[in-house]
Amino acid sequence: MCGIVGYVGERNAAPIIVEGLKCLEYRGYDSFGLAVADGTATDGGGRLTVIKKQGRISDAGSEVSLAVGNIGIGHTRWATHGVPSDVNAHPHTDCTGDIAVVHNGIIENYAELKKALIAEGHVFKSETDTEVIAHLLEKFRNAAAEKGLSGTDMVDFAVKNLMDTLEGSFALLILIRGFNGLIAIKRFSPLVLGIGDDELFASSDMTPILEHTQKILLLEDNDYAYLMPDGIRLFSYPSAKTVEREVKTVDWDVESAKKGGYEYFMEKEIFEQPAVFVNSFRQKIDDGAVSVLKKASSITVVACGSSYHAGLIFRYLMEKYCKIPVRVEIASEFLNFTTAKDTAVIAVTQSGETADTLAALRHAKANGCPVFAVTNVLGSSVTRIADYVLYTRAGPEISVAATKSFIAQCAVLLRIVSIIGKGIFEKELFEIYPVLEETLLFDPADASAVCKDAENIFYVGRGVYYPISLEGALKMKEITYIHAEGCAAGELKHGPFSLLTPKTPVVAVCTKDDAYPVMISNIKEMKARGAPVIAIGSGGDADLKEIADIFIPLPRSKNICEVISATIILQMIAYNTAVLLGRDVDKPRNLAKSVTVI
Ligand code: F6R
Repeated sequence: MCGIVGYVGERNAAPIIVEGLKCLEYRGYDSFGLAVADGTATDGGGRLTVIKKQGRISDAGSEVSLAVGNIGIGHTRWATHGVPSDVNAHPHTDCTGDIAVVHNGIIENYAELKKALIAEGHVFKSETDTEVIAHLLEKFRNAAAEKGLSGTDMVDFAVKNLMDTLEGSFALLILIRGFNGLIAIKRFSPLVLGIGDDELFASSDMTPILEHTQKILLLEDNDYAYLMPDGIRLFSYPSAKTVEREVKTVDWDVESAKKGGYEYFMEKEIFEQPAVFVNSFRQKIDDGAVSVLKKASSITVVACGSSYHAGLIFRYLMEKYCKIPVRVEIASEFLNFTTAKDTAVIAVTQSGETADTLAALRHAKANGCPVFAVTNVLGSSVTRIADYVLYTRAGPEISVAATKSFIAQCAVLLRIVSIIGKGIFEKELFEIYPVLEETLLFDPADASAVCKDAENIFYVGRGVYYPISLEGALKMKEITYIHAEGCAAGELKHGPFSLLTPKTPVVAVCTKDDAYPVMISNIKEMKARGAPVIAIGSGGDADLKEIADIFIPLPRSKNICEVISATIILQMIAYNTAVLLGRDVDKPRNLAKSVTVI
């Protein structure tokens, strides 16, 4: 996830772009950049100034005042291809420096496009996927010129060919020297336009625009627009026909706009999960990494907190479907144990900076083990230790409690299971998006009403639902401050049963998998001790509905999809309970997002 912003009007663009990017920092903040055209540049001569740097836009100094002109584009980055650096920062330019592009999204076919463009003589400066767009536009602009096209005809030709060529998701803002306007293109990444008095804006969300105008136009997928000094021209791809989109007047304040209208970032991040899962699952995993994992005698995962739970989920599925032994260790305890050299060790860490996880991975590396990292942050410390790095595609997570980053870790780890398991789950998980969208329709009110008055809550499950119970309990305790404990359902009668009372709700995850019959008996045993049971189960399970006090049906789908849906339901119950209790959801007391001390 990155943030992009654009301006066309009578004012100097750079200060407006800089302020706009500050509003979008929550979307990424490892580097920033802007390109500004003065009037003569867009008329064919003059200047197109590009300034870009590693670091936060809020730390930008006087250098941005060098960009003078009234058409501009800007970008704040969360790296996905190429580490955070000056050269990988956007905007990206073509060989001539006449074309500048900012991009939010992922170009899935960039590797083959880059290879072909290099073979045609284009020279690349960065490691990003985005740079192919600038070079493609250069190529199509040259082809248009050969056909005698110029001005808007040239741009029409280049945009059409660009959209034919790119695969993936993109919101793009483009400046082309000689074209007196800004080109905005949207496919599967957010892009909104703002309409002011004699000025136009474009942005990843409406936050940067609201200070200037409340008139917002939401682009649809495959729309493209030319923002010109005399107004907007809006078209739809592939027809290239002019389209009209409704202009809405919004009265959000900037804070709620940043959160996309959600009350807290945690809620917003929960709702981003269908796309996050799919983007993380769909990416290619390096063949070399897969072959090392296949050859290893066993796999050990080291991680902390939610990331540790993702490791446990991986263990259940890998052992069951790929028959590879997997150990999962809490990173801070790992140094107590020995690990054979032919064990592949995977550190799972959202931030890539968790001190205990880094220490564990270094320990494994010193032992001679091949070491892997699954992380959300490009160029983070863990990536410098690991032999192989697999990235999650969650984008920046602002809320302290992990939600979308956890789902993204599950997606990447499931992808490994799927590849080693010769395609197992691949179809189901490629098609999971609507299932997760349906999951988000769940109303947690009844479950939260029960949980909010409890002093203790148990979360129970069997098999893969055991770590999911651990994760559900962690979410509940960290943001509501209610004591919550995840427990393997079979363990309850070995001690925790003594705590069950009518005031101790039990959240049981019980889908129709192999463990179903025994889970049903466990739930009956809990009921017999007077505990209210909130049961999350397969859609249409009349028996479970009958037994439970509250039955939460999952969308009807394959078992593996239910695993992800159930996790989201547990996040939603915890979130809603915290809101009911008036907690500071995004910043729970005593907790930090990144734990960089041992
Ligand atoms: C829980 C949570 C923490 C992190 C843990 C590890 O919601 O966010 O438990 O999962 O601190 O952090 P990373 O994944 O950055 O190593």
